[in-house]
Amino acid sequence: MMPEIRSVLVTGGAGFIGSHLADAFLAEGKRVVILDDLSTGLRSRLPGGARFVEGDIRRFDLEGLLRIEKIDTIVHHAAQIDVRKSVEDPVFDAEVNVLGTIRLTQGALAAGVTQIVFASSGGAIYGDPEGFAADESHPTNPVSPYGVAKLAGEKYLFGLAHGSPLIVTALRYANVYGPRQDGRGEAGVVGIWMKKLLAGEECLINGEGEQSRDFVFVGDIVRANLAAAARRLAGVINIGTGVETSVNRLYDLVAAACGTPRPARRGPAKPGEQTRSVLDVTKSRTALGLTTLVELPEGLSRTAAWFRRASSPA
Ligand SMILES: NC(=O)c1ccc[n+]([C@@H]2O[C@H](COP(=O)([O-])OP(=O)(O)OC[C@H]3O[C@@H](n4cnc5c(N)ncnc54)[C@H](O)[C@@H]3O)[C@@H](O)[C@H]2O)c1
Repeated sequence: MMPEIRSVLVTGGAGFIGSHLADAFLAEGKRVVILDDLSTGLRSRLPGGARFVEGDIRRFDLEGLLRIEKIDTIVHHAAQIDVRKSVEDPVFDAEVNVLGTIRLTQGALAAGVTQIVFASSGGAIYGDPEGFAADESHPTNPVSPYGVAKLAGEKYLFGLAHGSPLIVTALRYANVYGPRQDGRGEAGVVGIWMKKLLAGEECLINGEGEQSRDFVFVGDIVRANLAAAARRLAGVINIGTGVETSVNRLYDLVAAACGTPRPARRGPAKPGEQTRSVLDVTKSRTALGLTTLVELPEGLSRTAAWFRRASSPA
């Protein structure tokens, strides 16, 4: 029998993805505790039904919290997510993303937690893909400290949990977009462009715009987490669409979703920017049942509707 999910800790639950996860577990009737230091998270994203604990994963008494709240499942989403910041301050990035993850794993082992689902990054840890698309066995060659830290986080989780009953799942996300996003994440450009287009401002495309990414809707990320937890599935799984979209195509779709078709300004290419990224998502289909995903025009239209509501005066 699968150990039942009763009490879930969402680290980073005041963030973009974590807040959607908290909503979803609450909707499934689970008890939800959110741990977040509000460094980038927002109180306004916290769902009313969850218990909120303000704290930093680098310092908080995690074992104590997990025991008191009788947590059986952790979805670990607290992180420093800014790739550029990780280059400027790799020590800080590693403190949060590596040491914070180690502390959480130690706490989970000590408190007898059943499963940790870790938000990893397929976009950042494979590096420039060798052949296409990157499946879970693709070599990992992260080109940023953020990518290195995400990979190290995975390795520590699996290494520390080895030989214990703790189930570890690393979900390697593609570029996630959707309602509540801001301009920082790996698909931050969607949020930046939508805000600008809805305010009647011009957008910027770096370089030729033929660089590509795999854009996945946040609702599908939520479904992946719910399925990984419900199935108590261990291992590494890519979560994306398997569809490669160029930045130029993305811009056209974003402009259409906002109902404001206007050409973007062209700027210089970003030095060192990865040229292509797309994930092989066969395993997410077979292991998690993620067979139908929200298509990009539909996901962008839902995201634009949210930005329109968020920008209109209450
Ligand atoms: N957005 C993407 O495209 C994407 C892609 C791949 C992986 N991920 C991963 O998914 C997770 C969530 O990303 P997001 O886009 O929702 O980012 P986000 O910044 O919106 O959420 C992260 C949350 O963690 C909190 N936090 C940061 N440092 C903390 C600390 N030391 N202690 C406690 N809380 C802390 C922040 O306040 C924030 O609420 C992250 O682990 C990120 O690396 C995101």
